[in-house]
Amino acid sequence: MIVSRVEADQVRSLAGVIFEPDPGLTVIIGPNGAGKTNLVEAIYFGLTSRSFRTSDRRDLIPFGSAFARCRVTVQGGGVDHVFMASASRSEGNRFTMDGARIEQAEAVLHRPKVTVFSPDRLELVKGPPAGRRAHLDSFVAARWPSRAGLRSTFGRILAQRNALIARISSAEANSSQLATWNSQFAEAGANLASGREAAVEALAERWVEAADDLGLEGPKGISYRPGSATTKEEIEAGLEERLEHDLRLGRSSWGPHHDEVRLELDGRQLRRFGSQGQQRLGLLALLFAERAALLDAGEAAPLMLLDDVMSELDAHRRGRLVERLLGGGQSVITAAEGELIPERQEISRVAIRDLVGADEERDNGEDPGAGSGGGTS
Ligand SMILES: Nc1ncnc2c1ncn2[C@@H]1O[C@H](COP(=O)(O)OP(=O)(O)OP(=O)(O)O)[C@@H](O)[C@H]1O
Ligand SMILES: [Mg+2]
Repeated sequence: MIVSRVEADQVRSLAGVIFEPDPGLTVIIGPNGAGKTNLVEAIYFGLTSRSFRTSDRRDLIPFGSAFARCRVTVQGGGVDHVFMASASRSEGNRFTMDGARIEQAEAVLHRPKVTVFSPDRLELVKGPPAGRRAHLDSFVAARWPSRAGLRSTFGRILAQRNALIARISSAEANSSQLATWNSQFAEAGANLASGREAAVEALAERWVEAADDLGLEGPKGISYRPGSATTKEEIEAGLEERLEHDLRLGRSSWGPHHDEVRLELDGRQLRRFGSQGQQRLGLLALLFAERAALLDAGEAAPLMLLDDVMSELDAHRRGRLVERLLGGGQSVITAAEGELIPERQEISRVAIRDLVGADEERDNGEDPGAGSGGGTS
């Protein structure tokens, strides 16, 4: 399945933008502030009805306008589907396929999965463990849809157990209900941990391979560090043992909500000691490892949306990245004007100014150049 057409009717600074990505690799090039990230966000929005930049979809509504809307045409298996996502201040969010409202769980069967890189996502490598847990859980959901609910189930039980612990600590409740919650916590926690363990197992070798290939040099590894025991019985027993401690703290101090996924280079945490470029390669390798795991499981290649991916990478590593992207699947990446993109014929290059219209071109004092219709070369 590929995205054949994107119509960003109104998304942030984009109005009436029509973009037809290549089935392989398209690079969107333009100066700062021209709307490259907005276009990548629009594609994601049209396919998923969400944004990878904000949890408030109303941010996508162009300033002074009433709604945001993007349509994305997906081609595959001889059938085209048109997805349409909109966000409106007065009418809320709408997500349709071929004109009929559709839920996420259904939509994902008819569209490519989407993998996103954005500079904000580096927080995933650099930041605290919570981001890595969330990311791993989303991979679990993509790889094993039947496990998609594990994270939210555990989160709900954790919140309820925490509330009960807090009430017991302040003598507003007694501990008689605790056994039920401990048992549910242990069951949901063990399920969550086993999903994460399976995910890291599926990713470990592939991460090393992708990282080597992208030029992240040195011995490396990815490992799952559980924040508690991982079987139901052990978790339940552990909760009993730690009850006094939890009551003193007023919350659950032990469980998979303390899990860590560790990325290591040369025996040290990439998070703490990696350079900017190394962290970027580590994250890209993770995304490629996920893609490889999905492909090996017989799934279609996800659409890769890589925003501002080239900066901080040297020429050699940019070349490696492009080779990998040309190796299969559909990708759309953005690059700032003047950023060097490896010279490869197969790359489709699109100048954002050719998409957003000639007026801005003149405002920027740029030479409109030839063939400003499609902008593809
Ligand atoms: N809701 C919105 N309505 C209108 N314009 C918006 C909205 N949100 C952001 N913008 C504008 O969009 C422009 C930024 O676009 P975008 O982030 O896509 O640029 P870019 O081409 O990715 O730039 P860079 O190379 O710096 O990453 C800014 O001028 C910003 O003010
Ligand atoms: Mg940008």
